[in-house]
Amino acid sequence: MSTSTATAVSHPNIALIKYWGNRDHELRLPENGSISFNLGGLFTQTKVVFDSKFDTDSLTVNNERIQNSGLKRVSQLLNVVRELAGRQYFAQVISTSNFPIGAGVASSAAAFAALSLAASHALGLSLSEKDLSRLARRGSGSACRSIPAGYVEWLPGRSDEDSYAISIAPSTHWDLVDVIVIVEANHKAVGSTAGHALAYTSPIQKARIADAPRRLDIGRNAILQRDFEALAEIVEVDSNLMHAVMMTSNPTLMYWEPATISIMKVVPEWRLEGIPVCYTLDAGPNIHLIVRRDYVNLVKKKLDNLPGIQQILVAPVGEGTHLIPDRS
Ligand code: PMV
Repeated sequence: MSTSTATAVSHPNIALIKYWGNRDHELRLPENGSISFNLGGLFTQTKVVFDSKFDTDSLTVNNERIQNSGLKRVSQLLNVVRELAGRQYFAQVISTSNFPIGAGVASSAAAFAALSLAASHALGLSLSEKDLSRLARRGSGSACRSIPAGYVEWLPGRSDEDSYAISIAPSTHWDLVDVIVIVEANHKAVGSTAGHALAYTSPIQKARIADAPRRLDIGRNAILQRDFEALAEIVEVDSNLMHAVMMTSNPTLMYWEPATISIMKVVPEWRLEGIPVCYTLDAGPNIHLIVRRDYVNLVKKKLDNLPGIQQILVAPVGEGTHLIPDRS
């Protein structure tokens, strides 16, 4: 081989039951299982070119050349792929996304899921969904959940072998939508990799982990039975628990902005009015409203009256990571 290339597309995902804290940081083995759905309409497209002429890896994200830690993280994942394929070529990675990066919209999940499929395919590997999910996990834990389609559960496992995500229901199973309310589009101060490493410093993390199987059971059953009320309650509790751990870590992680809090306060009231909506937040100030599709316009209208909102993105449940034909 002198040159070989592949392009993959992946969606970010929103966790309904969250992952926070690792039992093994290098392998990104999580302390607890998690459940998410992929965000259709939002995507990262990544092209990987391996060439025997290259003398280093390179990375371009949204037309900007990336060096330092971003490139290092990509090279580390490429090293795993090179090792699996038994080939030592360097790669050019070109990635574009159609949503804000680094602001609580799980950009690294889509990025590493797409990179895993494109890089492994370009080097001639044909990995199973499980093995692709395991590979994506090495780049960003939540990326393992962007590999399978629809509603997804990450089985935490205890080793590299048994920590991967599976689809628990197809995207067509239930018409939920993520209405993503952007209150701050800039890069967050402390990313999730650093945040996971602090989780154990919170006295609340142990209790959060111990209770995770119960929350996972409630969340999974609520999805399978399309029980919005049960889902809403556990999703909000789970998000609040994770943020309680963040806020009580040392140093403290406080991601909320005033606009975040005003939305968090009003959403349960909207639910009492009969609107099927609940909130969840990742490691950032932006707030994800999980809404039944038939109520999206009403929720958007109600959001119009609230201050501090910069942008609203709407994402239905999406498919898994897939290859697309190379157009260059
Ligand atoms: O995959 P990471 O390392 O970016 O961690 C993601 C952590 C949260 O988004 C806050 C929660 C989750 O389960 O997605």
